[in-house]
Amino acid sequence: NGIWRHPCPMNMNVVTSSRSSCPINAVVLGEALASEESELVFPSKDFSGQAMVASLEKYLEMYKRSIEDPAGFWSDIASQFYWKEKWGKQVYSENLDVRKGDIKIEWFKGGITNICYNCLDRNVETGNGDKIAIYWEGNEPGSDGSLTYSQLLQKVCQLANYLKDVGVKKGDAVVVYLPMLMELPITMLACARIGAIHSVVFAGFSSESLAQRIMDCKPKAVITCNAVKRGPKVIYLKGIVDTALAESAKSGISIDVCLTYENQSAMMRGETKWQEGRDIWWQDVVPKYPTTCEVEWVDAEDPLFLLYTSGSTGKPKGVLHTTGGYMVYTATTFKYAFDYKPSDVYWCTADCGWITGHSYVTYGPMLNGATVIVFEGAPSYPDPGRCWDIVDKYKVTLFYTAPTLVRSLMRAGDEYVTRYSRKSLRVLGSVGEPINPSAWRWFFNVVGDSRCPISDTWWQTETGGFMITPLPGAWPQKPGSATFPFFGVQPAIVDEKGLKLEGECSGYLCVKSSWPGAFRTLYGDHERYETTYFKPFPGYYFSGDGCSRDKDGYYWLTGRVDDVINVSGHRIGTAEVESALVSHPQCSEAAVVGVEHEVKGQGIYAFVTLADGVPYSEELRKSLVVTVRKQIGAFAAPDKIHWAPGLPKTRSGKIMRRILRKIASRQLDELGDTSTLADPSVVDQLIALSDS
Ligand code: WT7
Repeated sequence: NGIWRHPCPMNMNVVTSSRSSCPINAVVLGEALASEESELVFPSKDFSGQAMVASLEKYLEMYKRSIEDPAGFWSDIASQFYWKEKWGKQVYSENLDVRKGDIKIEWFKGGITNICYNCLDRNVETGNGDKIAIYWEGNEPGSDGSLTYSQLLQKVCQLANYLKDVGVKKGDAVVVYLPMLMELPITMLACARIGAIHSVVFAGFSSESLAQRIMDCKPKAVITCNAVKRGPKVIYLKGIVDTALAESAKSGISIDVCLTYENQSAMMRGETKWQEGRDIWWQDVVPKYPTTCEVEWVDAEDPLFLLYTSGSTGKPKGVLHTTGGYMVYTATTFKYAFDYKPSDVYWCTADCGWITGHSYVTYGPMLNGATVIVFEGAPSYPDPGRCWDIVDKYKVTLFYTAPTLVRSLMRAGDEYVTRYSRKSLRVLGSVGEPINPSAWRWFFNVVGDSRCPISDTWWQTETGGFMITPLPGAWPQKPGSATFPFFGVQPAIVDEKGLKLEGECSGYLCVKSSWPGAFRTLYGDHERYETTYFKPFPGYYFSGDGCSRDKDGYYWLTGRVDDVINVSGHRIGTAEVESALVSHPQCSEAAVVGVEHEVKGQGIYAFVTLADGVPYSEELRKSLVVTVRKQIGAFAAPDKIHWAPGLPKTRSGKIMRRILRKIASRQLDELGDTSTLADPSVVDQLIALSDS
């Protein structure tokens, strides 16, 4: 390990501000990262020797071109895909500056293509029809299945034909509420094939959340299954859908088609509630359709999917991605960040209900013709060795997961890992939240036997694909740092006034110009799109994350700086949880903050004021938690309810969350100035009730 000197891709030689002047609400994890940033972990010669980008010099050369000539860089890559017609003269056009007019991003406009065709037909036509596209591993060990690229194409065509037959057309939305069965990627691809817009709702969301999304995008059809087993539990998905459909019908949104897959491993059809006319069993209709289906050719800028995500206010945002740029970007990021080889077997543990499952279970890998594992179950069922059992069973080479899983497996003990071979593993990946250095090291040393580089990929639902990520083999890693920007990405760290900081600095993470995978709008609310992402720092896309850059130019993500919390890599708006809590008849007010959590990264900590005269009780505490589970989903259930006779507010009535965060994390000597509160005594009351 020699001395590490290199020209940083950004302006590293100017050192202006120090970490202590950090303007952001650094999450505790972020601070922990800071002290360990100097350690470098070098890729082995063997790995670098075979890597696609084998050196920093090679990266810098490509990076430089991607910034100086984005049109040339990306059109060279885009040309590797199938386009029915090539895009127009202008490869891209953008306005990211609100002061200059409406925000607008377009890539490959005028280009006519289809992402399903590029994922499936193109691979079949180039001789990969017999290659395994999906290995499916069921919840119970021993239950499994697989599909080759040809078989997958046939299944997708059958569903596409069915959807067309029931009247789903180009531009129509289809809501998908499915667990990790092969039918989930099949459904996404079938929608894409006919130009319909899929909106996958994670099958852990409650009926109310599902109803909210159905009412927002008004789908032509809903696709679900009767039930799923996750770990030892059976979840009756069809019942949740029934409730959601009844709810949306009340608002005049009625759904004519509810296609239901019979998941016999969880429940037989006889036990499923049924509405004749609307509900139809997948197995009764879809297999009867032809196994070929004409592709609907679409413009690069036609919508591909909608995916709802949480923001600072109560209403979820429908993030809209379009076809061409997203296709080129997910394929390219996948290929480089995992150093993909055709012989790889790739497993991403994320659910297709989140963006990770869209970009890196379905589209990115399949565009590369990769073999992908789709896992239905829970990663520590029947025991915490399940992941490595699956790795050995399928000889997984690329394993991509979230820090929360790494931490929970780490706690279960090394013996669950070391009893498996894991020899096949080549590259490990992490996503969803900052990975703390101790979890990074365990992942690296124990899971990867100190052989496999870790791609800590920073990105968001909005970005479509990786933004800051290691390219394994190209440069040394620092545990906990996502390292450097991907091709075409120009990160900018700005201060609270929007001034771009240079060199070593801390601030708000923004991006200076567009990249092909960027989202184009929030569905039905372009104004909110501009306000949330482009108005805070004019001239930039604002990510909502805090970030610092060290003296070597490495980027360190420190967590959200807005009212969004990250629980086990799931993004939850504090306002959503608050609005669920106050819907409880005995709750008059609530304030929710994130608090450090050993396994989940952040936990949900709720301060609750009860209606006049209502006494605190354990029963009431439970009923408040149930209310949140029902309204949002089990993953959003508060970890702690803190009874609050009053909340700390300024004289103008604004809740001072800074103080609540300190109380929640028991940093009572760091409460800061409380004199501006309308009633400073509420703080003492809250502290007194801390352990109630
Ligand atoms: C937020 C986006 C992107 C897929 C999963 C989550 C946090 C994501 C990292 C990382 C530090 C990360 C950020 C971001 N985040 N990846 N590697 N290091 N933080 O997607 O639900 O849209 O959440 O997740 O805070 O803003 P999402």
